[in-house]
Amino acid sequence: MTKRNLNLIFLGPPGAGKGTQAKQVVDKYSIPQISTGDLMRATVSSGSSLSEKLKSYMQAGALVPDQLVLDILIARIDQADCQKGFLLDGFPRTVGQAEELEKALLKRNSPLSGVVSIDVPDEVLTGRLTARRICSKCSASYHLEYLKPQKDGICDRCGGELYQRKDDSEEVIKNRLKVYHEQTSPLVDFYQKKKNLYPVDGNKKIDMIFQEICDIIDRLNSP
Ligand code: AP5
Repeated sequence: MTKRNLNLIFLGPPGAGKGTQAKQVVDKYSIPQISTGDLMRATVSSGSSLSEKLKSYMQAGALVPDQLVLDILIARIDQADCQKGFLLDGFPRTVGQAEELEKALLKRNSPLSGVVSIDVPDEVLTGRLTARRICSKCSASYHLEYLKPQKDGICDRCGGELYQRKDDSEEVIKNRLKVYHEQTSPLVDFYQKKKNLYPVDGNKKIDMIFQEICDIIDRLNSP
C-alpha cells in the first residue's frame, strides 16, 4: 500500500506556540514547515514590489488579503520538498483561504491529514509575545522567561543577534488577537464539521505539548 502524504495544519492564535512546535515536528517527520508569516516577512525584506503593501498590513496586525497569501502559498506547496507532505503554520487564517486550499489539494490528489488546533487563553498569549525574541540569522525563537538564550541577546545555535518583531508590541498584539477571534477562529468550527480537527492544550510545558502532538501525528500517519 502506498503511503499517503502527511499534510498538516497548525491552527492557533498568535503566540500559541505554532512555530515552536512546528520546528520540532518538521525535524522528526522530515516534512517542511511552511509559515506564511515567515514567507511574507522574507518578501518584505526582499524589497520586491509587494514589499510595502505587505508591510502595511503586517505591522498593523491585520491579515494580508487572501489572494496575495494564496498566490505565495500555492507556489510554495508545489515545490519539490513538499512531495511527501508539509506542515502549514499560520495558514489558512480565513474560511476563504481554507476553501481555496481544499480545492488546490483536491486538484493535486493530496488531501489534508489533519488540523492540530493549539489552544491558549488570551491573557497568556500577550506575555508570550512581548517576551519573544527571534534570531536575525537563523530565525530561532526564544522567550525571555521560558526559553532563555544562554547569553543575553545572542542565539545559542548560531551566535546571531536576537531582535523583537515589530508586531510584538502590546498595541499590535491586541489587534492581532481581535483579528484572530473575528476572522480565524471560525476555522475551528469549519474543520470540526469535517471531522479533521485535533485540539491540544497549548498552555503546558513545550515538551509535553510536543509529545501530545506527536501522538496525534502518529495516529494520522499510520497506514
Ligand atoms: P505569523 O508570523 O504567522 O504570526 P502569528 O500567527 O501571529 O503567530 P506567531 O508567530 O506570533 O506565534 P506562534 O504561534 O508561532 O508562537 P511561537 O511559537 O513563536 O503572522 C504574522 C503576520 O503575517 C499576521 O499578523 C498577518 O499580517 C500576516 N499573515 C501571516 N499568515 C497570513 C495568512 N495566512 N493570511 C493573511 N495574513 C497572514 O511562540 C510565541 C512565544 O511563546 C515564543 O517566545 C515561544 O518561545 C513561547 N512559547 C511557545 N510555546 C510555549 C509554551 N508552551 N510555554 C511557554 N512559552 C511558550
